[in-house]
Amino acid sequence: MINKKIAIIGLGYVGLSMAAFLGNHFKVVGVDSNKEKIRTLEKGRQYFYEPKMSYYLKRAIKNGLTFTDQITKEIVSSDFVFITVGTPIDKYGKIDLSNIKSVSTSIAKNMTNLKNNPSIIIKSTVIPGTAMHVVKPILEKNDLKESVDFDLLTNPEFLREGLAMHDTISPHSIVIGGSNNASIKKLTSLYKATYTKKQNIIETNNITAEVIKYANNAFLATKISFINSIANICQKLPGTNVDKVAEIIGMDPRIGKQFLKAGPGYGGSCFPKDVQALINFANNIGYEPILLDAVKNINTLQVNTVMNLIKQNLKNLKGKKICVLGLSFKENTDDIRESVSVKLVDLLLKQGCNVFVHDPKAMDNIQLVFKDRITYTDSLKDILVDSDCAVIMTPWQDYKNIKEKDLLTMRNPIIVDTRRILHIDNEKISYVGLGIG
Ligand code: UDX
Repeated sequence: MINKKIAIIGLGYVGLSMAAFLGNHFKVVGVDSNKEKIRTLEKGRQYFYEPKMSYYLKRAIKNGLTFTDQITKEIVSSDFVFITVGTPIDKYGKIDLSNIKSVSTSIAKNMTNLKNNPSIIIKSTVIPGTAMHVVKPILEKNDLKESVDFDLLTNPEFLREGLAMHDTISPHSIVIGGSNNASIKKLTSLYKATYTKKQNIIETNNITAEVIKYANNAFLATKISFINSIANICQKLPGTNVDKVAEIIGMDPRIGKQFLKAGPGYGGSCFPKDVQALINFANNIGYEPILLDAVKNINTLQVNTVMNLIKQNLKNLKGKKICVLGLSFKENTDDIRESVSVKLVDLLLKQGCNVFVHDPKAMDNIQLVFKDRITYTDSLKDILVDSDCAVIMTPWQDYKNIKEKDLLTMRNPIIVDTRRILHIDNEKISYVGLGIG
């Protein structure tokens, strides 16, 4: 098994985490059409912030991990070819499979006259039916047959940004969907050779694996919208705190304590896009997804809860200096995709506020969005001086450690804490926790 050759096509969070991890065990080639990314990776550098990745990446490169921007015959003749390209949604909320289709077309072109039968593995999140009805017909164009000339598997990923290496090294489960046992077994044995600990490997067909991924993300998004609804109710009930409610309901094993942290709404590259794509898909197959629509709408509206908390405490917002603390969609990442902070900054600008922002990692990314419309401050201490309100949006450790004496340098020490990470007991500071009545 150790001599197996692996190609990973698409070097985003999923692909690069896999390349960095599997590259420590096997001969791996990472492929991405973006030449600039390839040049950066060849130097052993990451092009986004992800804890622990650099360590594994450097070790994998020493072990022979290489990168290229071309899908060649050599790439396709690998034993395992993982497809980890992005699957965004288009302006109508429908999944955009163009990356999947173009990679499949390149693989098909290079798959004729191969000595081996590669396993083509779709790791990207794809709408149910994609493997069998979109990818398979493309791969079979040159008179090749699935299960004879190549295998086609669906192997969704559940990793979280900020914990991408952890989740790649210790996945809670590995789902493998395929059309026959022999092809599934090949990938199962690769994983058995990779992991020292016994893994929870679930074997199923391609379409069930595709549904599992959407169901997983949609359920987690539902939990967040649910607890955000409870937070909005608690907000109106003096004496209540959503965290206490979450803690106790989480003790019921049927509910579970994770993913019950109320906040400004979920963001990131997965939940908003996947819930939307599933809504669109359900409608197209004749089912009206009322629950998913509600999950999405609650999430879209949650930024208004944050705005209302600011308004209730500041009355007139025009000309006020507002500090937005935390711009990435969650802590330990510099990713601002679908971040609620971006929506909040937009709303504050519309109200005529003087917006100052801070984030431990995402400042470069946010500058590309707002350019000279807001003020960027690297020092947490400096940003607070003479400000009228500070809004904690992302639960970075730095914000948990904010000192009361620094808050007292504000013109109006009003703290809107959307994640309830501060515990302030000082009558000179107005502390407003989202979900605290
Ligand atoms: C998610 C899934 O967790 C992962 O399994 C999938 O592969 C990709 O999508 P990720 O987007 O990296 O991962 O972040 P996650 O930790 O799930 O958080 C998503 C969003 O939900 C963040 O904005 C986060 O702040 C928010 N969130 C999460 C809450 O508001 N409350 C919670 O209790 C949990």
